Amino acid sequence: MTVGQDIYQPREPRPVTSDIESVRRFFEKLTAKGAFVAVSSSQQATTRPGGPLREMRSDQSLGEFSGFIEADGDLEPIERSFVANAVHSRRKEFALGRALARRALAAAGHARVGIPAGPDRAPIWPTGIIGSITHCDHIAVAAVAPTQSGIQAIGIDLERTAGTADLIDVVTTVRERMRPDFADFDMDTLVGLHFSAKESAFKALYPRLSRFLDFQDIVLEFDFANASFTADLADNIPSGHTLCKKLRGHFYQNDGFAMTYTYSI
Ligand SMILES: CC(C)(COP(=O)(O)OP(=O)(O)OC[C@H]1O[C@@H](n2cnc3c(N)ncnc32)[C@H](O)[C@@H]1OP(=O)(O)O)[C@@H](O)C(=O)NCCC(=O)NCCS
Repeated sequence: MTVGQDIYQPREPRPVTSDIESVRRFFEKLTAKGAFVAVSSSQQATTRPGGPLREMRSDQSLGEFSGFIEADGDLEPIERSFVANAVHSRRKEFALGRALARRALAAAGHARVGIPAGPDRAPIWPTGIIGSITHCDHIAVAAVAPTQSGIQAIGIDLERTAGTADLIDVVTTVRERMRPDFADFDMDTLVGLHFSAKESAFKALYPRLSRFLDFQDIVLEFDFANASFTADLADNIPSGHTLCKKLRGHFYQNDGFAMTYTYSI
């Protein structure tokens, strides 16, 4: 049984981050290439802001549990202005993402640093680092990689899949809908996966393209059995970058959540 088949079990829902071993394996393709990922679990988010943090390293100490943070109090001065006027929930998710990013950076051997955002909201990573952040319903994930690892782009995304079936025409292309096995899957799951995969591809591409993309601008090719996909720019989008061609991606879906990451090497 492959790793992907083991993780992709749509008929046996489990909370998306309840099983640290599954999540660790999900990110294995990325961490094996030299990325560092920090994940917060939702399990204690209601009693403890931020929930437990979990770190994964690309060495033998994968899956180490690394304690708690109070997410709302962990911002660096340079970050505070970005959410100074935001509602509490937004400040909390922003701070949790930043805290996780710092955990991932620390695992990569990087000193504590503020991570400001551009006017487009994209995080501004320290020199020599690329990364991505996502948060959804008190769960958050941050992934970073030193550019010297050879990873050139990273995007991660976490979405709730419930109700996304209504967005099928917006999110999927005609070509994607023409797959012979397209109708074999639960529509919320399928559309949610396309949604998340395109958002993670967008986050990976944005630092290079510096332009917003539409769902129709990214074409996915799923390998459902192996919980993986490729993401390509549609023909009408000028890329100018070879890395924008065929990002690799992996997905994990469970209990109404879809989690995806894309990367380019
Ligand atoms: C960036 C975007 C994809 C965020 O997705 P989301 O599901 O709302 O929220 P997530 O929690 O998954 O991700 C938000 C994080 O993405 C990161 N982000 C925001 N804009 C980004 C950008 N332009 N490039 C890369 N990362 C970005 C930030 O870290 C942000 O969290 P923060 O503001 O707390 O730092 C979305 O809001 C957006 O800008 N969309 C426009 C383009 C698009 O989605 N097109 C359709 C798909 S191709």
